[in-house]
Amino acid sequence: MREAGILRNTAVAVSNGRIAMIGAARDLEHAYSDAEVIDCRGGVLTPGLVDSHTHAVFGKGRFEEHEMRAEGLDYMQIASQGGGIHASVRDFRERSENDLYDLALPRLRELASYGTTTLEIKSGYGLSVDDELKALRVIGRLAERQPMRIVATWMSAHEVPQDYRGSDERRSAYIDLLIDDLLPKVVEQGIARFADVFCEPGVFTVDETRRILQVSRKAGLGVKVHADEFTPAGGAELAASLKATSADHLAAISEKGISTLAASDTVATLLPGTMLFLGKEKQAPARALIDAGGAVALATDFNPGTSPTVNFPLMLTLGVSQLRMSLAEALTAATVNGAAALELAGETGQIAPGFAADLALFAIGDVRELPYWYGARLCVGTWKAGAPCHPYENVSKLNPRPPEVVPAG
Ligand code: NIG
Ligand code: FE
Repeated sequence: MREAGILRNTAVAVSNGRIAMIGAARDLEHAYSDAEVIDCRGGVLTPGLVDSHTHAVFGKGRFEEHEMRAEGLDYMQIASQGGGIHASVRDFRERSENDLYDLALPRLRELASYGTTTLEIKSGYGLSVDDELKALRVIGRLAERQPMRIVATWMSAHEVPQDYRGSDERRSAYIDLLIDDLLPKVVEQGIARFADVFCEPGVFTVDETRRILQVSRKAGLGVKVHADEFTPAGGAELAASLKATSADHLAAISEKGISTLAASDTVATLLPGTMLFLGKEKQAPARALIDAGGAVALATDFNPGTSPTVNFPLMLTLGVSQLRMSLAEALTAATVNGAAALELAGETGQIAPGFAADLALFAIGDVRELPYWYGARLCVGTWKAGAPCHPYENVSKLNPRPPEVVPAG
């Protein structure tokens, strides 16, 4: 992670949606003489950012909770009073598939406009068979109808819905519903790549999480865990023992969790925007994880409750200033390791021959400016497999020269 492989005065040739060649502009122009040329004008070209953890399909925002927390109520307290995820579930269930699609589409464009080209989206605001299938269908439609690369995650174990609370029998009836009724439908319809569970005291226990994810794995899904977000309950250790693709959050991970996770192949996906937005003092121990040899990814956790931001470069800022990551570490966390957190490490996340031409262009002269101008939208172009994800914009405040397309021939 310490080596981001930054090159200067370099051109990239794209052919059939893939990176074909990297080198001096003169050599590439010679090799691809009839190519359309895009002059990046001294800007910074990165792999398209890989946002490996979002809950981007939801209805309304939950801005009232923001003030409640300022007054002293905690995220989990709000949830126990029927707010939090429950509030989003009530709203989600009332909305049609079309409505949810129409709400999500402009949000995805916003995400792309900050440099993201690959996006994981979880279900988890339906929490019933029909509403969870509805969520995954919306994600599927987004994947088909807009240019970003989308990965769908089945997260019906995002919360125990209110209609299944009150007794242990009701709780286990919900888990049975997930395993016996919903999961087979999800798998049969081929509408999710991963399964994820919110493993946290008050939500799903370690044993419940293990059970749901073992069955999911058997059914053919990759597994992820919302682990140790607020309480060190052994979520990271569980993720490692399940050989999960990623363990996410980890702000409360234990010492044992750090060493276990770092020794495993599970990617530690850190979401510093969430802790910032919730007003928590503790951030995930990125330094300890990286120094122990772990693979750390960064993601936005874009969702209406704990991280309503589409600004991935801001997570790089937090990576450097809050998690004490170097620029190279933050950059690899948002690209190569984000791709690994989606089992896409051989496909996207690097500008290297053979990789998909997923690219983001920023109007800055030095890559260190990306996390530096914090909160700014510096991205002026994104491409997924060589095709534009969002249109160029003239945001030339910091760099006097926006990119220019020179027609073929
Ligand atoms: O990743 N922690 C659980 N799930 C989300 C929050 C969802 C919500 O509050 O709407 C998260 O932070
Ligand atoms: Fe999340």
